[in-house]
Amino acid sequence: MDSDELKKMSAKAALEQIKDGMIIGMGSGSTVMHLINLIGQRIKNDEIDIMAVPTSYETAQLCISSGIRLTTLDEHPSLALAVDGADEVDPNLNLIKGGGAALTKEKIVGSAAKLLAILVDESKLVKTLGEIAPLPLEVLPFAKSTVLNQLKEFGIPQVRMSNRKLGPVVTDNGNFIIDIFDLRIRDYSKMEKQLNAIPGVIENGLFVNMADIVYVGSEKGVKTLTKL
Ligand code: 5RP
Repeated sequence: MDSDELKKMSAKAALEQIKDGMIIGMGSGSTVMHLINLIGQRIKNDEIDIMAVPTSYETAQLCISSGIRLTTLDEHPSLALAVDGADEVDPNLNLIKGGGAALTKEKIVGSAAKLLAILVDESKLVKTLGEIAPLPLEVLPFAKSTVLNQLKEFGIPQVRMSNRKLGPVVTDNGNFIIDIFDLRIRDYSKMEKQLNAIPGVIENGLFVNMADIVYVGSEKGVKTLTKL
């Protein structure tokens, strides 16, 4: 099975969390897109009503076309459930997120939810964060060079460049993304605070102690990981 099929399996399993009338924090990325499609089918077939707080333009568009009504944190500042993907998951369910540059809204929405459910394929499971993915930070463009200087002690920082636009990736919030490769520090809680204390850093992609349940699509079926 390819990784997209495994992602779809995890999305199918996570569907068990979705109940009629729910207001869901909706993460971003290809795995969440599968879940949105599946919710869309349930809305059509079972006539359930679902609202979502989207974490990116892409998620908002797909929610609209799937029949999921959009709402905001201003209207619903606390949510029963948020669902999202991840770039890495460690054995304590700490995450790296931000591969799709939506980490700031994802962290806000995830922290507003009583239950944060993460959907991944098994390739995302790591022993130590930073093994396969860089750590992304959303950074104010004005502060790019000063932030890059201060990030050198944590690894190798690089401004993320666009594929189909000249220059850097610009986030939905109008900022840049700096990815830290070869992460050097292992105390994630401390690092999360240190990174956010750098002037110009809007948010970082370390999600420490936030995920409650992780659905892992694997060749052997879906594994469900929960906090110990
Ligand atoms: C976006 C994210 C995504 O959830 C993460 O990159 C995983 O994406 P995918 O489900 O496409 O593998 O953090 O900012």
